[in-house]
Amino acid sequence: MAERIVSSKSKPEDATLDNSLRPKHLSDYIGQEKVKGNLSIAIAAAKKRKEPLDHVLLYGPPGLGKTTLGHIIAAEMGVNLRITAGPAIERAGDLASILTGLAENDVLFIDEIHRLSHVVEEVLYPAMEDYALDIVLGKGPGARNIRLAVKKFTLIGATTRYAMLSAPLRDRFGSVFRLDFYSKDAINEIVKRSASILNIKAEPDGIKEIAMRSRGTPRVANRLLKRVRDYAEVKTNGVITGKTAKEALAGLDVDDHGLDDLDHKVLHTLIDKFDGGPVGLETIAASISEEADTIMDISEPYLMQLGFLSRTPRGRVATKLAYEHIGVPYKNSKEPETPPQGSLF
Ligand SMILES: Nc1ncnc2c1ncn2[C@@H]1O[C@H](COP(=O)(O)OP(=O)(O)O)[C@@H](O)[C@H]1O
Ligand SMILES: [Mg+2]
Repeated sequence: MAERIVSSKSKPEDATLDNSLRPKHLSDYIGQEKVKGNLSIAIAAAKKRKEPLDHVLLYGPPGLGKTTLGHIIAAEMGVNLRITAGPAIERAGDLASILTGLAENDVLFIDEIHRLSHVVEEVLYPAMEDYALDIVLGKGPGARNIRLAVKKFTLIGATTRYAMLSAPLRDRFGSVFRLDFYSKDAINEIVKRSASILNIKAEPDGIKEIAMRSRGTPRVANRLLKRVRDYAEVKTNGVITGKTAKEALAGLDVDDHGLDDLDHKVLHTLIDKFDGGPVGLETIAASISEEADTIMDISEPYLMQLGFLSRTPRGRVATKLAYEHIGVPYKNSKEPETPPQGSLF
């Protein structure tokens, strides 16, 4: 599989970037104004009452700033942050030991919370509701239930798959925030901010070129910025101009909408093989030998955001815009013709 420069999933090369570029406070977290507004009120209120913040669920595609918000919330509350992930908590006991290790009002961040096992979820419910752990001691008829108290804490759950969360788990979060793709302006700001932190000289046109191809995703924006900086340093005097950015990005096989090879394959399969759909996601995945999950998490949300793809009960459909983008004439044979005058629909 070719390297995917615009994948919004975290890669090892992002690690050093993440630490230096990750906003530390709500005030340097760019965009997502609604989420920020609601969070800052909730945080201020909780601090005033000297209570932990209500449990928070963050959902949205990868790379939009969920983990970053976890760090920020803990910092603003002035408490410790413990980070773990759904698949890492295998047994009920694992969760119990994490919970008993927390200090008063600490934040526990569970990434990919949709992947918690059922057994672990059952332990989480009373912990979220009553700050209690229900433990079963022993087995068989002699087994006893005991209830242990844990310190008050805030759970932050993060997921790319809201629909996969069980209803009882969803209901136990006091606030649920969806992170959206960032606007052009917000991504522009993010590229500008990152360039200044990394001491990269970039002209407004250069920043614009990078922002345009960043899929509304900060993680992708930062990665592209770094690649373009490398190119500018090697090929020119190091300043990112519009022209250098264009050249560098062309070499990375990212088109002017930020689409890469995988996105093109998805669109071409839909259009060339299945006449624009509707076709099931599994079928698309199988015909391009890619995992359905990857398409669902990374390619599809952005293609839908661009209006290139729509989801229908019968499957995925390529829109007219998608045909135009890849340069195939659109024949709209499947949609009903305009009904003749006077007919009832
Ligand atoms: N609102 C934002 N403003 C500036 N940079 C951001 C913002 N959100 C995310 N980033 C950058 O994008 C990177 C990826 O964000 P992250 O929180 O890891 O995404 P997620 O957890 O949703 O996959 C972070 O390291 C950070 O540098
Ligand atoms: Mg994350």
